[in-house]
Amino acid sequence: MKISVSILNSKDRKEDIIALNKTEISYFHIDVMDGNFVSQKAFSSDEIVKLSTISEKPLDIHLMVDNPLLYIEALKNIPNIENITIHFEIDKDINSILTRIKELGFKRGLSIKPNTKIEDIIPYIDNVDLILLMTVEPGLGGQKILPQSKERLLKLKNLVENRNITIEVDGGINNETIKDISQADIFVVGSYITQSQNPIEKIKTLLV
Ligand code: DX5
Ligand code: ZN
Repeated sequence: MKISVSILNSKDRKEDIIALNKTEISYFHIDVMDGNFVSQKAFSSDEIVKLSTISEKPLDIHLMVDNPLLYIEALKNIPNIENITIHFEIDKDINSILTRIKELGFKRGLSIKPNTKIEDIIPYIDNVDLILLMTVEPGLGGQKILPQSKERLLKLKNLVENRNITIEVDGGINNETIKDISQADIFVVGSYITQSQNPIEKIKTLLV
């Protein structure tokens, strides 16, 4: 299992990255929000460039935006980005955006919101490396995991069986809720780690 730490709710993002660089986590998860796809705004490209220079872990970019290409072109020269994930629910040509992400050398991620039908992503599964299953409504850190998450994860696992696709889950994950969704490959964890007095201890409770 891999942990991707969301720094959205960090009190001091820079300080948290420096402290967590030396831990067993696999990625820093960056939640990019445009104020349209979700009503909040977070992380400008300049801010991501700055944070990327202090991160010793690869970056896992989650684009909660209506126009991902704008952001993808702005981020394309950041060397330590590994995954770029866009949302299924946007009104754009998803396959051409996924192809562009691959062309730039990043892993192609597709995310689905809690009320999107799992089967709806079938037209794209030959053009993705990763599927990000939202286990809360996108927009805010610190929410409670939604009860349908376990069932949806199992459905998604079935759908991608025998394909080389990484499954990532995002939202409301802590040392208890992780047990129900343990079949995923990457776990995005924000508040449970970044709101704690002792983030390094919290990471250990997830990795047992
Ligand atoms: C929600 C974001 C998540 C969130 C996770 O829109 O995509 O990545 O920051 O944070 P927690 O773990 O606090 O739910
Ligand atoms: Zn996220």
